[in-house]
Amino acid sequence: MSIPVTLIAGDGIGPSIADATVRILAAAGADIEWDRQVAGMAGIARWNDPIPDATLDSIKRTRLALKGPLETPVGEGFRSINVALRTTFDLYANVRPAYTIIPGRFDKVDIVLVRENTEGLYIGVEHYVRIGDDPKAAAESVAIITRLGSERIVRYAFEYALKNHRKKVTLVHKANILKFSQGLFLDVGRMVAREYEGRIQFEERIIDAMAMHLVMRPEQFDVVVTTNLFGDILSDEISGLVGGLGLAPGGNIGTTAAIFEAVHGTAPDIAGKNIANPGALVLAACMMLDHIGDGERATRVRSALEGTLRDGATLTRDLGGTASTDEFTNAVIARLA
Ligand code: NAI
Repeated sequence: MSIPVTLIAGDGIGPSIADATVRILAAAGADIEWDRQVAGMAGIARWNDPIPDATLDSIKRTRLALKGPLETPVGEGFRSINVALRTTFDLYANVRPAYTIIPGRFDKVDIVLVRENTEGLYIGVEHYVRIGDDPKAAAESVAIITRLGSERIVRYAFEYALKNHRKKVTLVHKANILKFSQGLFLDVGRMVAREYEGRIQFEERIIDAMAMHLVMRPEQFDVVVTTNLFGDILSDEISGLVGGLGLAPGGNIGTTAAIFEAVHGTAPDIAGKNIANPGALVLAACMMLDHIGDGERATRVRSALEGTLRDGATLTRDLGGTASTDEFTNAVIARLA
């Protein structure tokens, strides 16, 4: 029985890399019924809304989406795409795997970052403080960390580790300074970790030290779990360890839906030229296949992609080659035959 998935091709290079991904999944025999919807600038063009109700309704139905990059419209009155998706589907876990495909500075990186996606400093509770005549003399941003939010994200990281035969979870925090909010996250993390004792190792790192350890010896890390702001920064740092955003996928997992995406943007400088690297969206689609229990097919697609990248004869320009998006896609498909 085919599985319905909402496909948001996105803006800029989005349609081209989405097309490549759909072709590769079809070649791998994935039985997916794509429900094509729009968002971003394409959503504005069609419905005057960057995140149209038709798109949200589709995800409510399918509970599964693959999303290309979206251009965030500048200007007031438009709903924030990420906030709308996050709040509608309570996408609390942002999962960003990064592993070495083409050996570079580091050749044994294999890290999965699990970032809390709904709390912390990013809840958007901010205001200016007037002092005397200056209405913007100061600004205040509030970070909310809850026991429930902390528990479910740390538990997600441990369950992910168990399911994917990982050995260790590293919890990253700043409880030495932010004793209440980060302290709560750490306390709850330690409590959850005890339940997994003997099955998954647990360690704690302070965020600043973690940033250094990551660039000195990234091979020591396995699954990493942290709060929203730290996760945002560390996930880009980690993708930099394995060659940048061109091969960085992400999953946003919630209680009622899961949305998989390429981490990079719409790449307006190369849009419409048939030279974008579809790798990140293909890897995001593999995460989606894993999520729906089709791990065997995900592994097959991943090895075809990795084979093409390691072979080096058909690489896109961002990786130093001259191949077009179509040529790269065809090379991956040839390895699936
Ligand atoms: P970007 O990721 O689009 O581009 C940065 C650089 O990386 C550019 O030189 C681009 O050509 C290159 N690049 C990115 N993806 C590539 C790929 N698949 N193949 C080859 N080269 C690639 O970041 P930028 O320029 O900061 O943002 C452009 C637009 O994308 C903005 O409107 C931004 O809001 C949006 N954006 C959307 C995201 C999303 O929907 N998840 C994430 C990041 C940015």
